[in-house]
Amino acid sequence: MPAPARELHTLAVTRDADGFAVLSFLVPEHGHNVLTERALHDLATVLDDLSAAPPRGMIIRSGRPGSFFAGADLARLETLASLPAAEIERLCAAGRDLFARLSAAWPSVAVIDGTCLGGGLELALACDLRVATTSPETQLGFPEVKLGLLPGWGGTVRLPRLVGPGPAVELTASGESIGAEAALRIGLVDACVPRDQALTSARRLLEAHAADGFVAERRRSLGQPVPLDPLERDFLAATSGAVIHGRTGGRYPAPPTILETILAGSAVAAAAAASIESAAFARLAGSGVSANLIRVFRIGERNRRDTGLGVDAAIDAAAASAPAVVGGGIMGAGIAASHLRSGLAVTLVDVDAAKLAETVPGILEEAAWDRATKSAPAARALELSGRLHTATQMAAVAAADLVIESVVERSDVKQQVLADIERVVAPDAVIATNTSTNPIARLAGTLERPGRFCGMHFFNPVRRMVLVEVIRGPATNDATVARAVAHAKRLGKCPIVVRDSPGFLVNRVLMPYLHEAVEMVREGVPAERIDRVSRGFGMPMGPIELYDMIGLDTAFYAGLVLSAAYGDRIEASPVIPALVKAGRLGRKSGAGFYAYAHQGPGARSAGPDAALAEITARYALPGQEITDRTIADRLFLPMLLEALRVLDEGIVRDGRDVDLAVIHALGFPPFRGGLLAWADSLGAAEVVRRLEPLAALGARMRPTEGLLALARDGRRFSA
Ligand code: NAI
Repeated sequence: MPAPARELHTLAVTRDADGFAVLSFLVPEHGHNVLTERALHDLATVLDDLSAAPPRGMIIRSGRPGSFFAGADLARLETLASLPAAEIERLCAAGRDLFARLSAAWPSVAVIDGTCLGGGLELALACDLRVATTSPETQLGFPEVKLGLLPGWGGTVRLPRLVGPGPAVELTASGESIGAEAALRIGLVDACVPRDQALTSARRLLEAHAADGFVAERRRSLGQPVPLDPLERDFLAATSGAVIHGRTGGRYPAPPTILETILAGSAVAAAAAASIESAAFARLAGSGVSANLIRVFRIGERNRRDTGLGVDAAIDAAAASAPAVVGGGIMGAGIAASHLRSGLAVTLVDVDAAKLAETVPGILEEAAWDRATKSAPAARALELSGRLHTATQMAAVAAADLVIESVVERSDVKQQVLADIERVVAPDAVIATNTSTNPIARLAGTLERPGRFCGMHFFNPVRRMVLVEVIRGPATNDATVARAVAHAKRLGKCPIVVRDSPGFLVNRVLMPYLHEAVEMVREGVPAERIDRVSRGFGMPMGPIELYDMIGLDTAFYAGLVLSAAYGDRIEASPVIPALVKAGRLGRKSGAGFYAYAHQGPGARSAGPDAALAEITARYALPGQEITDRTIADRLFLPMLLEALRVLDEGIVRDGRDVDLAVIHALGFPPFRGGLLAWADSLGAAEVVRRLEPLAALGARMRPTEGLLALARDGRRFSA
């Protein structure tokens, strides 16, 4: 008689008539299965218990439809950074040994239905065979790289042995997941069937292969080095290395480490490859970049749970079911397209019929755009055209339950348009404005019901920029905030709630950074050098390049609003209006700070630009020798100071929103974890120390009271 089964928390075991043991995982503490300590412990227990009466084979599945295993427990990963490398390696070895026991036990098959990621895929790889379902929820991949890590339970050892080093590097270093059919094509799974046939198919595979030598042969070959001649190896190292460098700019250690680990591990037997993997994992876990990326991931997760009134607020706001956009310019068109892309029908109103007719094809193309094929299938665009209703009369938005106003940035026009919208919509419809500079309080002035009014500030280009500032005016009510937040999420955006104040959050923290760059240009620091230092810090483009991209006319106008509000530290720079006056509006006019030979990337003209030099010379400031470190300090410390003021004034509810905003709206480098996390990497005392030599520049470099207090008490910015 087998010993009575011990109590299991996450795993149910049954024996079927064929003598197979069916292990069904369901991890109750989480919304999807994750490999918690307990789940691993239960698996070990079951392997022990089964050995008393060995089954003919094992079927490993999830008791939770749509979720095989979503990966390791993030809470466990978060603790790694504080552990010594040897301890991390020990933890890797413990997980890997457990999976090795599974691999060495009775023939096994994993039934993969739903997400099968990270440690979940390593568990599936530890089985002899894999059946994946054709369900669209079925996704296989190693997202560890996105957290600055690599698979640490044998993934980099088993995957290249199964599918070859090339596809293994591609899957692991990109972190992207693939569906069942793609997994079958590369040999990652052995069968791909509809969900209702998965168990039967798994049984058939086990029946067929348990005793025919296939399993034994596969186990043997998975233990060997991967046959790869030196030429192939060098080619893979060079090509993948170049792709990885292109993608990461050398700032993210995980992708190149994955490449090295897979190549080194492929050249030796599996047991030796496992040690290489553990050592690499420990290096990455202790790198700091991983801790930052995990933090950024956590902040994003928290944002998804945030209703706009708090993470735990008991409010059940729904996205709009009949949304409308008023104003079909650059922004309105982008907002309308993002509705279509998200599967929502949308009404778009613009006073200018010709402009509307001109914009519609672009909206449909953007909405139908297929990122994989880099094209917009005509049939898809045609299908979407039935969901885009355009009109020149406001009456067209009468049935809308949420209207986003995005007309020209003039408060008189906006107030009129907003009043017109209110006149036609139902009393409970939400009205939002995509203003970039108008105070919500002022725009609300002409509304009868200002409680249902808020800002929804999108960023340009809407298709790429996920941040949306939901701006709460003094009269905006909770339900409006929650509905705007829910709607932004429905569009796949990342909304943060910001209190009404000049520049809201993003433009306010951006302003000191841009302003400082121009001051340095006036002191004679070459624009190219400032941009290079900023990119070296990890920004996707430098501040001067950004000016040209935004457009100097737009920047001038925004600068006026911001300097009126914060003139004590930021005076509007005379250089910007002078450039505008000279017709240098940035990329769009062919010249701004830089001259452009043509439109598009790499369009900048090389060589000296006498006209620019003449303008900046007119406003020259005394300058001295400056180091790259000081340039970086002058760009990013004022940004930090402004963020601290924003927090002191309660403009955002939480410092994590600042980090989310700078990452998603300004491209602040995620490997630094966000602005506050970067400041923590220096420490408050060091920030104060670095501001000291900049004190002569005036109020804009003066530490805030809050900063001095943090420095005094040794507290963290992101606590
Ligand atoms: P745009 O000038 O490209 O488009 C404005 C559109 O509004 C035009 O199509 C115009 O015909 C239409 N319009 C004017 N009066 C109207 C009325 N009474 N009724 C209906 N439609 C009317 O401007 P853009 O760049 O799209 O900006 C729109 C709003 O978005 C502005 O408030 C701007 O500050 C804001 N914004 C702009 C960003 C940008 O980078 N362009 C970024 C974030 C916000």
